[in-house]
Amino acid sequence: MSEDRVTAPFGRRSALVTARERHGSYVVLRCSDAAGPRPQAGQFYMLSSATRWGGGDRERPFLPRAFSVLRAEHEELHFLIEDVGPGTKRLCELQPGDELLLVGPLGAGFAPPRGGRAPLLVGGGVGIAPLAIWQDELSTPAPALLGFRDAAHAAGAVLLAGPQVATDDGSVGHHGLVTDLMSERLDGDDHVEVYACGPPAMLEAVRELCALRDVPAQLALESGMACGFGACFGCVVPTRHGLIRLCLEGPVLDAADLETAVVAGAGH
Ligand SMILES: Cc1cc2nc3c(=O)[nH]c(=O)nc-3n(C[C@H](O)[C@H](O)[C@H](O)COP(=O)(O)OP(=O)(O)OC[C@H]3O[C@@H](n4cnc5c(N)ncnc54)[C@H](O)[C@@H]3O)c2cc1C
Ligand code: FES
Repeated sequence: MSEDRVTAPFGRRSALVTARERHGSYVVLRCSDAAGPRPQAGQFYMLSSATRWGGGDRERPFLPRAFSVLRAEHEELHFLIEDVGPGTKRLCELQPGDELLLVGPLGAGFAPPRGGRAPLLVGGGVGIAPLAIWQDELSTPAPALLGFRDAAHAAGAVLLAGPQVATDDGSVGHHGLVTDLMSERLDGDDHVEVYACGPPAMLEAVRELCALRDVPAQLALESGMACGFGACFGCVVPTRHGLIRLCLEGPVLDAADLETAVVAGAGH
């Protein structure tokens, strides 16, 4: 959605893992990327490990996988990863000193709030990742409303400042959906611009609530991505203005451009 995007250097480069931290169900991988430009919040990278990625009898994972940048500081990139399949499993196994291969930063990230509105961050599960770097970069304090399945996932909430948390099972914070917290917030003050990332059903609920209340929103979507830079057309999603490649025109889209945030093949 941001007009001025940071573009990736040509080709895939190598980055050494400098740290691996566990936060409940999630792993945060840090890697040094002195050769790459500083990414914008909402941009993403295609990641793979230099070893045990494709080849051999069992080829999966084969293609690199897409990950939002969680944080960028001191020439280091941080990524938040949940082990949900062969690619994320392999990345979660990496240890300091191991080699990561990356392409990025890719796509268009978040744009500043319009019309003097205050930012409001709404995240679900691993979708909290692009909101952490956006909270770091915004010039005004941005409250964060974060929803998780359970306590093990809610451990990821420490990655943002001062979050209000909801869990599906009520083990931490509000027992219910993060959109319950969002509705309450908007009842108090709706001169905000919402920034959201999470599973498709959550994003759709955010989109509907914002449309009803005439609140602008920027949604970071997911779709299956094979290349990440516009070559494969694997990431095409429908908008009110036709089909777009999410890796080029997104992953952050203006909610007003979407009929629905539920995209076939997206989310886990
Ligand atoms: C722009 C963008 C940013 C992203 N940022 C992050 C991030 O910050 N952190 C993060 O963890 N992920 C992120 N993702 C999601 C991540 O890229 C995908 O989940 C990726 O596909 C995981 O790869 P995998 O090999 O581990 O799992 P995959 O094999 O690709 O499977 C992914 C999900 O699909 C399910 N699945 C796989 N095969 C099938 C099948 N045949 N039928 C039904 N379900 C199936 C799996 O159970 C799993 O839930 C992002 C995606 C995009 C597009
Ligand atoms: S991921 Fe290949 S065109 Fe978007």
